[in-house]
Amino acid sequence: MEFSLVKDNVADISSDSVVFLCHEGQRLPAAARKIDRALGGFLSDKVKSSDFKGAFGKTVLVDTPGDFNMKTVVLLGLGKKENFGALEAFRAANIAVARTGKISRAVCVDFSGVDREFLKVFLEGMACGAYEYGKFKSSGKRKNRIEKVSIASRKISADYFNTQATQASAISKSVAFSRDIVNDPPNILTPSVLAEHALSISEGSEHLDCKILDKEEIREMGMGGLSAVSFGSSEPPRFIHLSYTPPKKSRKKVAIVGKGITFDSGGLCLKPADSMRTMKMDMSGAAVVLGTMKAIGELAPGINVHGIVPATENMTGASAYKPDDVVTALNGKTIEIINTDAEGRVALSDALSYAVRLGVSEIVDLATLTGACIVGLGLHNAGVMGNSPNLVKSILSSASGAGEKMWELPLDVELREEIRSRVADVKNVGSRWGGAITAALFLENFVSDVPWVHIDIAGPSYMEKTSDWYQYGATGFGVRTIVNYLMER
Ligand code: BES
Ligand code: ZN
Ligand code: ZN
Repeated sequence: MEFSLVKDNVADISSDSVVFLCHEGQRLPAAARKIDRALGGFLSDKVKSSDFKGAFGKTVLVDTPGDFNMKTVVLLGLGKKENFGALEAFRAANIAVARTGKISRAVCVDFSGVDREFLKVFLEGMACGAYEYGKFKSSGKRKNRIEKVSIASRKISADYFNTQATQASAISKSVAFSRDIVNDPPNILTPSVLAEHALSISEGSEHLDCKILDKEEIREMGMGGLSAVSFGSSEPPRFIHLSYTPPKKSRKKVAIVGKGITFDSGGLCLKPADSMRTMKMDMSGAAVVLGTMKAIGELAPGINVHGIVPATENMTGASAYKPDDVVTALNGKTIEIINTDAEGRVALSDALSYAVRLGVSEIVDLATLTGACIVGLGLHNAGVMGNSPNLVKSILSSASGAGEKMWELPLDVELREEIRSRVADVKNVGSRWGGAITAALFLENFVSDVPWVHIDIAGPSYMEKTSDWYQYGATGFGVRTIVNYLMER
């Protein structure tokens, strides 16, 4: 998708569709009034008859007569200006695409009434809204035709526009990449294929390096958690380490760690069939890490970043790990396996220990870790937990700037005893209560005293429905937050 800035009056621009962004309780934008006059009041009639007042997400669509310089005029409600933020901007852009995508190659958006701070996230919304996963459709037809988006505003300078558009472009391509690899079926996207993707990302940027450990190396290194989870699968595991070095030397080092279970059957504690479906998405955290590394390889922030992914299937083969097994993680701590379906935290124990060994100053992990987090927060919020209030605060603030919903859950001290084991240092599951929190408390054992935030993305990573502002399947949730976060450090 190509972005450009136009300074002309929107009414004079030739485009397949024009979208007017209208805040509730405000007059229609001047250019819309001009078009209305040219259409003999047709637009204002439609506004009256449909009772359009600019409520968020409401739209009015007008097909113009044949000789007009735009085929379709869309009024899109943004709600009250005081309630408008990054989340609304991202969603409004997705709606704009949903309304115009089937009929337009070029869309012009009148941005005159919107603050320029929302430009980047709006452009991300346009590009993400046009995403389609069609790889396995033999017809190969795309529903969405938008190729060019022009933003009309006299208030935005060309310089500002170009920096925001460059970032939005790189970020949305990375979101699309992240969605692609989550949507890829698990027979195609195996741990070794995930590792190949990481390698090709590093080959695409002079700032990135990639190291992959194979099955033997994982075992020899002492990654007993990742090894154990992989035992039931005939697909060999991979440990992925991407590293980004900034153009100017920096002492700051951040690790982002992502759960990379390319399929979660539950292992011997087998999931029921209905819960097993969609478990190709259990590598969504890994997809955020790879997507983020791809974006920063282009955008070149000023700090060192390590992207770390333990990748494996969780299956039921003859050598599968079992309840009652005790395994030793890379940091030497022993784990009693209670439930083989709590595999993400077992694989992550090694990845977090590895990050600590790298001497990073902070760790952020993303994982589709618990159903309990979905029970608590619903599908649209990620759960955020951590040992550093400051780091939690920065992540929440980057998330709100990106228009991704995240909510903090407490790392309750009382729950710590839930995962105390009688035979090992820690067990991989607590009682029924506070499952998202006990999972995080388990992970806490492997981050030593490094400031750390855990983001449970089990809910928002994957949607089984379509709405005006998200599509069926992978969402790429997390990439935009983490890239923002790294760019702001
Ligand atoms: N991958 C699942 C969590 C999950 C569930 C992600 C639904 C997305 C949607 C994870 O490995 C898992 O199975 N967790 C168990 C933990 C339990 C055994 C303590 C769960 O949440 O039920
Ligand atoms: Zn599981
Ligand atoms: Zn899982």
